[in-house]
Amino acid sequence: MAYRVPFIDPRSHYAKLKPEIDRAIIECLANGDLVNRHQLKDFERHLAEFVGVKYAVGVNSGYHALLFALLGAGIGPGHEVVTVAHTFVATVSAIVHCGAHPVLIDVGPDFNMDVELIERAITPKTKALLPVHLNGRVCDMDKILALADKHGLAVIEDAAQALGATFDGKCAGSQGRAGCFSFYPFKVLGGFGDGGAITTNDPQLARMATLLRYNGEDRETGEYHYHGQTALLDNVQAAVLDVKLRYLPEWIAHRRRIAELYRRGLSETRQLRLPHFDEACCNDIYQNYVVRTSVRDQLRTYLKEQGVETLVHWSRPMWEHRGLGLAVPDVPETLSICREVLSLPMSAETTEAQVHTAIAAIQAFFSKYP
Ligand SMILES: Cc1ncc(COP(=O)(O)O)c(C=O)c1O
Repeated sequence: MAYRVPFIDPRSHYAKLKPEIDRAIIECLANGDLVNRHQLKDFERHLAEFVGVKYAVGVNSGYHALLFALLGAGIGPGHEVVTVAHTFVATVSAIVHCGAHPVLIDVGPDFNMDVELIERAITPKTKALLPVHLNGRVCDMDKILALADKHGLAVIEDAAQALGATFDGKCAGSQGRAGCFSFYPFKVLGGFGDGGAITTNDPQLARMATLLRYNGEDRETGEYHYHGQTALLDNVQAAVLDVKLRYLPEWIAHRRRIAELYRRGLSETRQLRLPHFDEACCNDIYQNYVVRTSVRDQLRTYLKEQGVETLVHWSRPMWEHRGLGLAVPDVPETLSICREVLSLPMSAETTEAQVHTAIAAIQAFFSKYP
């Protein structure tokens, strides 16, 4: 079905940048620059500068960024990693695939790790904290870093949804031992397929990730240092991402304007909770604009009838998927989030007119649910 207000609009996203993107792709193809060429190195350098770290290592997904960052921090069998119950499954799968045990704690009302719950989750086996900067908002990094320091833990930031978001002026992915990004097509910086990157100031972690993504091989010497994986960021994707990265500040500013329009249009709607939290320290990028309401499913159905596309991140808690073999955590906020959240249309292409259409439809719905 064609929506009046699509959740995202990949075709017009491409159309806007077509000449530059086509040029970047054709240059790779014409020169045979397909694997690990200057386009990848250029993109890594620009990404590291953007995030404010020394190194960026391009890999083929956010999942691999997490996996290699954890391995690079020495996480393995017998270790526990404290992360959140409300995240995409890849966060937890990366911990499991290191051989470590994920300990899931609850989030606060801003959807991010509840820092008050961290200490009681720490045991002698805990080796790392893995905060997730969800929806484009950075976790309380001051408290997380202080606790990590106190207990001698590594901090790996899942910044898959937060490229460009800041906490006290510092970018997501710049403060922990490593930051992990995803360039899945619908992320704030998205490729035309899967992609990801690790950011870090730690030369050893950067080197290990660089080897692990290339089957463990040091390309200069031909020496295999580890059993690695085939997980390099494609050179053509890197060329495209390097073009798009130049537009990222503009796109983030646009997302903030869209968020502000939603705030103005919906703040009087008492049945809705909007995603505007303490803004003194955090500058959010609104990867997702997530509202909460007890009549989420009815609202979503109504908006669909009105041609407004929405998504739910996520309605079914991870541990209910039996195949994942996860213990049931005590996480009341996560459970109510699963029942209540709805992501409204939000992208670099979302127009002000579309936002007004979405707001009017939401208001019309709630006039029937006083
Ligand atoms: C919070 C979070 N972590 C990790 C990932 C994994 O990234 P990818 O899909 O690139 O593997 C995602 C992707 O959606 C995500 O949203």
